[in-house]
Formats: sequence, structure tokens, C-alpha cells
Amino acid sequence: MTTSSAKVPVNFIRGWPAPSLLPASKLKAASATVLSDPKLFVPGLEYGPDPGYQPLREELACFLGDFFGVAPDPRRICITGGASQNVACLLQSFTDPAYTQAVWVVAPCYHLICPILEDSGFRNRLRSIPEDEEGMRVDLLEEGLKEFENAKPRDPVYKELSPDRKAYRHIIYVVPTCSNPSGKTMTPARRRAIVEVARSYDCLVICDDVYDFLTWPVLSPPPSSTAPAASLVPSPPPLPRLVDLDRALGPSPHDAASGGHFGHVVSNGSFSKILGPGMRTGWAEGSPALAHGLSATGSSRSGGAPSQLAAAIACEVLRCGALEDHLRDLVRPALQRRHGLLVDAARRELAPLGVEFVSRNWEADGVGIYGGYFLWLRLGEGLPGASEVAKRCKEHENLIIAAGQMFAVKGDEQAVDLDRNVRLCFSYLDEALMVEGVERLAHVLRTWNEPLGPDSQRDQGLNMATFK
Ligand SMILES: Cc1ncc(COP(=O)(O)O)c(C=O)c1O
Repeated sequence: MTTSSAKVPVNFIRGWPAPSLLPASKLKAASATVLSDPKLFVPGLEYGPDPGYQPLREELACFLGDFFGVAPDPRRICITGGASQNVACLLQSFTDPAYTQAVWVVAPCYHLICPILEDSGFRNRLRSIPEDEEGMRVDLLEEGLKEFENAKPRDPVYKELSPDRKAYRHIIYVVPTCSNPSGKTMTPARRRAIVEVARSYDCLVICDDVYDFLTWPVLSPPPSSTAPAASLVPSPPPLPRLVDLDRALGPSPHDAASGGHFGHVVSNGSFSKILGPGMRTGWAEGSPALAHGLSATGSSRSGGAPSQLAAAIACEVLRCGALEDHLRDLVRPALQRRHGLLVDAARRELAPLGVEFVSRNWEADGVGIYGGYFLWLRLGEGLPGASEVAKRCKEHENLIIAAGQMFAVKGDEQAVDLDRNVRLCFSYLDEALMVEGVERLAHVLRTWNEPLGPDSQRDQGLNMATFK
């Protein structure tokens, strides 16, 4: 066997779109249109209004309305600097660390969300709620909320938020569709249950809805790269967003008490996965009061919504239909194919060793649907733990995989055991390398108890327990 350093690195951690999926020519054309016309480039290059570039709010309202089958309303949309930046703004405008009791985070969670939540005063107040097959365990969520309500006296709100904004009692953080890292999608029943709990306990549910447009039917065998793209990916109907379920229920008793219909869910959208992360532009959708309150965040009041020029360019990409073309003709077919290749390799190489995974998330018209960027593996009981496997993969195979513990909720790590899980990202790697990576992982598992090669002496003391 070759030594680890002689092998081409295979990095399954990077959750980026592959360079071949970046719409450079479409963005170039949109930029040329914007920068050639003073009616577009003057507002694009000056400070913008607080809720963001108005034409983009209007385009997005129609795009989202068509996609999710809801009535378009630009007043419900606020332009943001992307999903991550916007979580910080939401916490600035809709929480007060003295009054807001805790942030309830789905576990496993998108690992980079924790520092954003901690930076807003919630260090040691993140609470881990595990997922089951349907999504976040709403029974445990409600149990936790109840205990909190009984145990803690109410502190006052110290921030000056009213009348445009309010402090919620709790924040809930979820990725309802094609979650990062588990790939899971919440069922419609679980979505409704979470919305109901949020409305009862005065919670704001922050939904990172960043993978909603990236779903496809699961085909076996995976389509070839030369197959006509559009015929492969009839877009499956989306599941209802939590924000739309909350909207349909109208104001809650807490809305009445706070003097405005702020609602209990915000959909945090982003152009990162559908155009490119470098756009650093996204949108938040919630009630008109919530969108207005978000636009009143101090950093938006000073100079207007972030990413104004990127927003003008994104608007043009939407307006001329280039975004829909890009998703239909390139992104969905490529992800569908990459996912298929990874699942095939995992079925062939890993399943016989006792590794489990879910390859379809829900059904539409009898066809399995999957989506997003990630495959979440479970190492069967007889196999070694994920952290040790990841360590050995790196040292002996030049293979980087994300061990489950990386996705634990910070400060509440013990609540959910993730050391049997591994996340593999299929959006970024070269296709052939991705398959080779699975073969290398299988090799590590298969030879776990064999003596290590000469370059591996430092590892001899590692877990040598037998499996199976
Ligand atoms: C669940 C989730 N939320 C947010 C982000 C980051 O979004 P943005 O680039 O818009 O900040 C990611 C990126 O991987 C993600 O997976």
C-alpha cells in the first residue's frame, strides 16, 4: 500500500458547490446588464434601503410564491448578507439575553451555527434536541420548554426593541429540508407540531431553508453525465415551509400581547448554494412586521441592507430566468448524479461492513426524493467510533471525513451521542475522487485490526478492538 502522504487528498468535509457548478457566465451577463444602466447601477452602488434592494424583494416574492405555492408579498421579505450573517441580525433584533431563555438547536446541527448563537449572549444556553426519522423531536422540545418556564423567573427586556421589534422567550434553530449534516427532511406533521409549540411558548423558529431548491428524484443507477439534464430532474413538489404554516394560522396570542403580528417563524434563505457563497446575499421571509423589525437592526440602519450590489446582480439573474435555468439544467442534475454515485459506492463498499445510511428522504408520486449536499453515515455497533476512524483515515489514507461529534450542540455535547456518525459531502469533490474516497474509507474499516504499515507506528496504540 502507498503511504498516506503519497495519496491524492480527498476532502469530504468541504460543503461548497463544486467549481463546475458556479454560474460565472450567467453572473457576468447579469453584472454587465446592471453596470451598464444607471437606473440599475446607481441604486446598486449607493447605500440601499434598510429592508434591501426593492426590485429583489419583488422578484423573490414571485419566485418563492411560485415555488412554494403561496401568495407573493414583498413586504414579508428582507434582503440579508446571507444566512449566517442574518442569524446574527435576527438575534440582535429579536432576543435579549436577559429575557430570552435558551436556544433549542436540532442535534446533530450545522456546526458553524453555534458560534453565531454564542456571540449573541447564549453561551452555555444552547440546548440540544435530537432528531428522529421525522425531524426534531418535538416531544422533547416541549418537555424542555415546559421545564424552563416553570424553573426560571422572567427577567425584563433590557434592550430597546419596541415598537418595531420584540424579544422572544426562546429561539428554535432547525434546517427542515435536507438538513446539514444529517440530510434529513422534516415530515409535514412534524413541521406543524413545531410551529404549534413555537406559538404556545413564544418562540421564534429560525429555519435555515438553504437547501430547499436542491432536491431531486433518486434514480438507480445514477444518471450518466451525458444524459439530457432537464429530463432527469422533474422538480419534486416542495414540502410546506414552517413559515407558511405559521402564516396560515394568523396572529397568535403572543402576537396580540406584543402589539404586532411578528409571527413565530422566519425562513432564512441564501444565494450561497444556488448561485455561489461568494455572493454573500440572502433573504429572510416572515411576517411583514418581522421583516420590518429585522430591517431596523442597527447595522442595517447604518447604510441599509448589506450586499447591495450583489443583490442587484442576483435580482437580474432571477428576473431574466437564469437562476431557474441554472438550477434545472446544471445544479440539480449534477447533485442528483453525484449523490447517486456516492450512494452506489457506499452500498457496494460500506454497507457490507455494517455502515448504514438513508438514501431517500421522502416520496413524491411514489418516487424517492433526496436533496442537499450531505450523506450521513452510521457506523454499525461492531465498528470503531467515528473520531478514531476519521483520525486513521487522515493519517493513513489522506482522507478527510467529518466525525459526528463535530456536529454536537456546543455546551450540550453529551445530550446526543454522535460518535457513530460520519458526514460525507458530495457537492464539491471530483466525482472519481469521491468514489475513491469511499473505497479508502472501506479499506480503513476492513483492515482495522490488521497490523499498520511502517509509516503508521505512531498509531499502534489506537483502538484495536475487534469489530464483527
Ligand atoms: C444549514 C446551513 N445554514 C447556513 C449556511 C451558510 O449560509 P450562508 O453562506 O448564506 O451564510 C450553510 C452552509 O453550509 C448551511 O449548511
